[in-house]
Amino acid sequence: MLSTLKPQPADKILELMALYRDDPRETKVDLGVGIYKNAEGETPVMRAIKAAEKQLWQEETTKKYTALSGDPAFGAAMKSLVLSDSVDHTRVGAIATPGGTGAIRQAFELAKLANPDVTIWTSNPTWPNHVSIIKFMGLKNAEYAYFDEASCTVDFDAMMESLKGVKAGDVVLLHGCCHNPTGANLTLEQFDVVADLIIEKGAMALVDIAYQGFGDGLEEDAAATRLLASKLPEMLVAASCSKNFGIYRERTGCLMAISENAEQTPVTQGTLNFLNRQNYSFPPDHGARLVTMILNDEKLKADWMAELEEVRLGMLGLRTQLADELRRLTNSDRFDFIAKHRGMFSRIGATPEEVLKIREEFGIYMVGDSRMNIAGLNAQTVPLLAEAVAKTCK
Ligand code: LMR
Repeated sequence: MLSTLKPQPADKILELMALYRDDPRETKVDLGVGIYKNAEGETPVMRAIKAAEKQLWQEETTKKYTALSGDPAFGAAMKSLVLSDSVDHTRVGAIATPGGTGAIRQAFELAKLANPDVTIWTSNPTWPNHVSIIKFMGLKNAEYAYFDEASCTVDFDAMMESLKGVKAGDVVLLHGCCHNPTGANLTLEQFDVVADLIIEKGAMALVDIAYQGFGDGLEEDAAATRLLASKLPEMLVAASCSKNFGIYRERTGCLMAISENAEQTPVTQGTLNFLNRQNYSFPPDHGARLVTMILNDEKLKADWMAELEEVRLGMLGLRTQLADELRRLTNSDRFDFIAKHRGMFSRIGATPEEVLKIREEFGIYMVGDSRMNIAGLNAQTVPLLAEAVAKTCK
C-alpha cells in the first residue's frame, strides 16, 4: 500500500533550513525559518522559562493526565494574556494545542464542523502552511489582496475590495500582529473597518497571533485582537507561545473560541475538547505549564516581560540599522519600509532570481519570496546584507 504514496512537496521554509546547514561557508547568514537569535546567533532558553523549569522539577509529583482541554489554568492565563478584559471570559472556550500550528489546525477543524461548506479567506501572501493545511483538509480557500509589492505596504483598498466576496459562514483569517511573511500590518482603524465588514457579512474572524510582544509591545500587539473580540459576536483566536516564550520545541499553543453568549460556551468548549480527543487526545503539558507558572507569578512574569522587551528592541534596532545602511548605499528611501515593518519578518521585494543570487554569491539565506528573518541578523551582518541587496536588487 505504501508504494502508492507520492513524494510530498517540500515545505519551502524547512527546505531552506537544510540548505543552510549543508553550506560549508563560514560567513553564511541564516534569515530563513522564524527563530529568534541573539547577537551571538544563539536561541537561548529564556531566563523565566529556566527558573520555572527548575521550580517545576522540584515541585511536580505526577505526570498523570490533566484534562482534554489541557490544564484549565493555562486556558485562563492565555485568555488574560491575549484577550485581557476585551470580552467576558465566560464566553470564551479554550484548549491547549501542540503549538500555534496545532491551534490553527483545530480552528479549521472547528470551522469545518460548524460549516462543512466553509471558505477560509487568507491574505495574499500569508504563512504558506495556512494554505497548505486548508488544502490538505479539503477545505475551500480564497485569497484577499493584502500586500502591495511595489511599496511593500498594505494595500487596504484592494483588501476591502476582495473581501466583498466573503459570504455568511466563511472564515476570514487575520494576522493579529507582525504579519508573516510581509511585516506590513493593518492599523487599528483598518482592523475596525474589517470587523464591520465581517459583521455585515455574517462571517467569522480567525486571528492568528504568533508573535505577541515582537512588534510594538506585549499589550500593543494584542490591541487588534482585543478590538475584534470586543466587537464581533463570535471569533476564533489561535495563539502561539513558541516565539514569545522561546519554547519552539515544546509545542505550546492555545485555541480560543468566543461564543455569542455564555450559554453557548459549554457546547463550544465541549467541541474543542472533542477535537483534541479525536486528533491527539490530551495536548502536551510541559510548555503550557511553564507558561502558566510564569504568567501567574509576579516575579517570573516581570522577568519574562523584561527579556521579551530586550528581544523586541533588539529587532527594532536591527531594522533601523538595515534601513539606514540601505539608504546610504542606494542613495534612496526605497528600503525605508524595513524600519516601519514590525515583527520578525520583512519582505524586501527581491525577485526569486535575486534571492537565489544573494544566497549563492553572498551566502545569505532568505525564503524565495524574499522574506527575511530580522532576528537572524546582528550588527556585523547587517552591512553584509545591505551590500548584497544594494548590489543585487534592481
Ligand atoms: C516561520 O514562518 O518561519 C515559522 O512560523 C516557523 C514555521 O513553522 O514555519
